[in-house]
Formats: sequence, C-alpha cells, structure tokens
Amino acid sequence: MRGGFTVNPLPNSPFGGLLRLEGVSGPGYTQALIEAAEAEPAAIPDALAEHEGLLLLPGMNAIAQAPELLVRLSRLFGSEVENYHETLTEPTKVHETVPEILVVSNMPPASKPPPPLPDPPRTADGGLPMQYPHRRGWHTDQSYRRPPPDISLFFAAIAVPKGQGQTLFANCAGAYAALPAATKARIATLEGLHVMPGSNRSPEAIRAGKPPKPLKPHEQPQRQPLVRIHPVTGKPSLYLCESGQMDWINGPIVGLEPGPDGEGGRLIHELMHHLTQPQFTYAQDWDDGDMIIWDNRCLVHAATWFDAEKHRRLMWRTTVRGNPGREYDGEARSWIPQREAEPA
Ligand SMILES: [Fe+2]
Repeated sequence: MRGGFTVNPLPNSPFGGLLRLEGVSGPGYTQALIEAAEAEPAAIPDALAEHEGLLLLPGMNAIAQAPELLVRLSRLFGSEVENYHETLTEPTKVHETVPEILVVSNMPPASKPPPPLPDPPRTADGGLPMQYPHRRGWHTDQSYRRPPPDISLFFAAIAVPKGQGQTLFANCAGAYAALPAATKARIATLEGLHVMPGSNRSPEAIRAGKPPKPLKPHEQPQRQPLVRIHPVTGKPSLYLCESGQMDWINGPIVGLEPGPDGEGGRLIHELMHHLTQPQFTYAQDWDDGDMIIWDNRCLVHAATWFDAEKHRRLMWRTTVRGNPGREYDGEARSWIPQREAEPA
C-alpha cells in the first residue's frame, strides 16, 4: 500500500490489521514509520477504516524514549489531539512533559489500580473469558461526552506477561450487521444514557444501595445513539457500554423502563452478549513497543486483570477527536464548564 506500509490481517482475530513499514528495521524504525506516515497522511487512517477500526503496529519501542512521537502519529487521525490538562483529568494521570498523553499504570505517580476484579474464572482451556457477562468492563472511550472522541492510540511502554493485562476489542459494526432484522428495527432510533464511571449509577452501585454522586452540569449523563453511522465508512454500528459507563438510574436506554432489571437493561445485556461473541472479538496480548490504534466510533474494548503486586505496567494513551458525525454538528462540548465552553 501507499507510503511503503504493508497491512496484513491481524493474526488470531476476525477483524483488524497488522501494519508495518517495509524495508526498515532496527532503532530507527519508529521514527521512519512516523515520517512515512506524515509524508502520506491518509495512508494509516485509510488502513484503519479498511480494517474495521483496529490496527496493531508492533516495534514502536522508540516512543518510550520520545513520547512526542506518539502525539505526532496521533495528529494524523483528526483535527484535535486531546490535551488532558484542559479536560479535567487528574494531573497524576497526565504525562509529565507531554500533556496529550494519558498515563495508564500501576506505577507512581499515576498509580492507577488495576481493574477492581479478582483473577476472574478461567475458561475450560485456562484462558480468560471474553464474552459478556463473564467478561465485564466493555466500553468505548469517553462516551459520557458529547461529541465523543473518534480514535484512541494506546502504546505499551512496559507490558505485563501475556495472558494478563490484555486489551479486548469487539467489532460493533460487524455485530450490528449480524443482528436479526427485527432487532435492527427495534433499536434504530433508541438512545443510550452514558455517564462518567465512578458516579454510582451502575447496576452494582444501585444494588449495593450506594447513593449516586451528585453531578455538576458538565458531568451530566449524555444521550448517544445506540446505532451510530460511521462518518467515514457509512456503516451502522452499535454504540454502547455496560456497567458504570451508563446511567442505570434513569437509563440505560432513554424511554425504556430504567434500572438494572428494566427493559433497557435487558436490551443492553442482549446486545452486549451478542457483540462479544468470538466471531466479533480479539484479545491483544501486549509486547513492549506495541501500539494499537482503534476507532471508538465502531469498537468497544475492555481491560483484563493483571497481577499488579508482581508486575509493573506502563501504557500511554492519546485520544483524537474531530469527526464524530453529522449528528453532533455544531454542538458545544458537554464536559467543559459552561463559561469556558462558550466561544471567546
Ligand atoms: Fe478505555
């Protein structure tokens, strides 16, 4: 393909691509790949769309010493790479010198604890379960914001051993296409109600009797279409999360019976269970230097457990926005306090 890149089907996955720059190896590989990408700026974004929103770029190790390279690559995917200092992100989770990088780590200063789960039950062959509800935590990044972001780039500076600390992906466009016609008709105009995790609006929090946290105007739950039309590919795609990234007090589906046992909740369970079947899912076992680029408009993802007592993990993420689709045209940003959201 253009720019000297090759893209092959992602191994062990029903979707996605494995992208490499041909003819270069060794310490200069990362820099050479980014320069090739900048010289042919549509090449990798086009490959992302052609491979259903998921690309693995192995061997990008030099980013660990030159984090600004991650931002340069990110700029190819949209008009704005989020500056986490401007978006109410905890300062300890923002990279020291590059504010466009969110640090996901169990090491200080970020020290984000691993998912609050015990080592989950294993499948018969010793693997980790993939399918909801055995595997929980499926979400699309920042769906509690309108307009939501487009693309995330996730880089493994220090990975944990394989079989732990995986990132799971599910193909929401493929899963939508496979739905029965009656389900497509039923969900066509529905909206989900998304909320910031930690707001005590999850089924678990409601069942435990935890009082919902008061939310400021810019933290209010946001409606999102349950079926989004991808602005680049034109394909319809399921757009939903589960558990704590949806509001199960007034939702999770606008206009349907609310609550963990309501009709809206049953629909989320049904769609999530369908979406996370093996024919739509991929598990990324990370090596140091791996980069995954994914499209939040047509994929959901989930983290798996890792033994944070034994292993150090350091991952960097950027988020790119700018093309959410026509339905968000002209909208102010829901997550910025009103005074600042107004144009200067
Ligand atoms: Fe995420």
